[in-house]
Amino acid sequence: MSLTDLIYAGSNAVAGLTEGAVNDAIEKYGESHAVGYPDTAYFLPIIYAATGVKIKTLGDLPAAVGILKSLITNKDDLGEALNAGLATAVGAEIIEAIRYLDGDPYAEDAGIGFVSDPIIRSLGVPLVTGDIPGIAVLLGESADPKTLAAIVKDYQEKGLLTFMVGNIIEQASEAGVKMGLDYRVIPLGHEVTSVIHVVSVAIRTALIFGAVEPGKLADFLAYTKERVPAFVNTFGPIDEVVVAVGAGAIALGFPVIADVEVPEVPGALMTQADHSKTVETSLESRDIKIKVTKIDVPVSVAAAFEGERVRKDTMFAEFGGNKTPAWELVTTGDLAELEDHKITVIGPDIDDAMFEDGKTVRLPLGILVEVAGKEMQKDFETVLERRIHYFMNYIDGAMHVGQRNTVWIRLTKEAYEKGFRLKHIGEVLYAKMRADFDNVVDKCQVTIYTKKEDVEEIYEERVKPIYVQRDDRMSALTDESVEEFYTCLLCQSFAPSHVCIITPERLGLCGAVSWLDAKATKQLDPSGPNQPVVKGQAIDERLGIWASVNEAVATNSQGAVEKVTLYSILEDPMTSCGCFECICGIMPEANGVVIVNREFSDVSPVGMTFGELASMTGGGVQTPGFMGHGRQLIGSKKFMSAEGGLERIVWMPKELKDDVAERLNKAVKEMTGIENFADMVCDETIAIESEAVLEFLESKGHPALAMDPIM
Ligand code: SF4
Ligand code: NI
Ligand code: NI
Repeated sequence: MSLTDLIYAGSNAVAGLTEGAVNDAIEKYGESHAVGYPDTAYFLPIIYAATGVKIKTLGDLPAAVGILKSLITNKDDLGEALNAGLATAVGAEIIEAIRYLDGDPYAEDAGIGFVSDPIIRSLGVPLVTGDIPGIAVLLGESADPKTLAAIVKDYQEKGLLTFMVGNIIEQASEAGVKMGLDYRVIPLGHEVTSVIHVVSVAIRTALIFGAVEPGKLADFLAYTKERVPAFVNTFGPIDEVVVAVGAGAIALGFPVIADVEVPEVPGALMTQADHSKTVETSLESRDIKIKVTKIDVPVSVAAAFEGERVRKDTMFAEFGGNKTPAWELVTTGDLAELEDHKITVIGPDIDDAMFEDGKTVRLPLGILVEVAGKEMQKDFETVLERRIHYFMNYIDGAMHVGQRNTVWIRLTKEAYEKGFRLKHIGEVLYAKMRADFDNVVDKCQVTIYTKKEDVEEIYEERVKPIYVQRDDRMSALTDESVEEFYTCLLCQSFAPSHVCIITPERLGLCGAVSWLDAKATKQLDPSGPNQPVVKGQAIDERLGIWASVNEAVATNSQGAVEKVTLYSILEDPMTSCGCFECICGIMPEANGVVIVNREFSDVSPVGMTFGELASMTGGGVQTPGFMGHGRQLIGSKKFMSAEGGLERIVWMPKELKDDVAERLNKAVKEMTGIENFADMVCDETIAIESEAVLEFLESKGHPALAMDPIM
């Protein structure tokens, strides 16, 4: 059979299955029964994107099946056949949605099935920073599980996000691959139709970050091809259905690399039978370049291990976390005096330490990183110091929580058994500091203290005074006290018309870029994503309008956005890309705003979930009344200050409220004299229904109720 014949055979088979499934479902549940995926604001996302149709009930499906069938022309033309591939995707999306009618079909499966909107949003930053350099989709059953596992581990070490479909899931798992979102290896499911959940991720990337208009299929295909760096690897023999699915991938711009003979289509469909070359061929097919730093330690060090938690039963050693004193500090030393790559451990290491309860080693810990360089500035110390958290978490077998003198570090037995010791922490920090900050760090030395008296004494004499100094400097940093703001254009790779403006009192909406970060990035990468915007005279101080800011936004968004205010959510609010940590929206009856964070999945008092609120904005679109922002902004005196500021906050999920309470209380107290403002803010443990929320606010005398009408 020719390639087009194969594609049509597969797509016709799927069309038939889809039609059958739709008819059966309607018979069983009736036409008015709801159909959809959990935690998304985009209905059946692929159908919504391709046609603009919002599928809500089973009765909406037969028309979609009609469209699907019309896409399968059976004409002997590759372009037409690729459309049949898209039809297969639509069919798979419908079949999978129907599987969700009886509850989560993945509850008993190793796969996770549908990927929710909040997860996709959380992937925005690592994708734009190149922390996740690409997306691998693996499918099938391998004749050789060992090499399969080697391929997956290789992607993992390179930081790629890997999705798996089919029996390769068990094969890789049995061969020791660590799996789960935390490890960037995501099992989707066993049925071939579950591959649709990764297609859905690609399509929603365009909806969420690109603000591509539903119904404009060609725009979606251009977006995924240009901006979503994905590819497909198939393992084992492939049947027509896999070929048809593969054709859908190719239509999206994702090359397919098979390990069996296939009719090759240059740049789109190819064979790589040698598994030792699969990774290389795949990365080349999407022009994905990987920057690796070789570090001399006995365990893997890769961004993919960032999310791993070390639990009690796998833990070998523990530091800090209120059990022992611990701190970390990056400070600038003298260029002439520092010795580059000098790593010293002073005190007991983890193997010669006392076993306190026969199992776990607990030690005090002080990590002193001294750097020096001609371009190094004091202001960059905190930027480097915050990276310790990430660098330590990259270690397979290490968990790092907190910062400064609240750090909490755990190491696993597995890492210990592989030979990991404290000096290796020094090696990792050294290598990453030199690699990531090469423009400012010419020399770096690391000293690790584990004797209680050292850790405590050095803290009092050297470390604490530096923290205090920095805090003073930080609180003096206001929008008024600096000459320049910064742009952040990182997210333009996904959201081409979005520009973040970063000020001392307003960090990037992803929460990852502060004004100091932006300043340091400018130094490290002069033509990079953070460029200074010299403020000049404000046009309107209350709303936060500057001609310089408007100009920077207009230029960098290619004219898509011409005006933004920095302090208002009603008048030309700052745009969003889509990866914001929180979104706030107006609750008119409470005369204030609710804020919902990405982790909260229930409905908020405005009747919308985070995902639904989030879908109101994004992709550089301005939607007055809705604004994406970072957690840190809750506690900034500039938070919608044009509309009355922090006092307008009437509701937040409890976890978020607890997280920001200290800073929020402090800022509100300084501005209004109100004590413990966070206690006046409602949360889901108190009330979600509008009336009950209002009752609570009244009982607390919440200030928003007495303010000018918000709209
Ligand atoms: Fe994206 Fe803005 Fe964060 Fe930069 S600051 S990475 S543009 S969200
Ligand atoms: Ni880790
Ligand atoms: Ni973003």
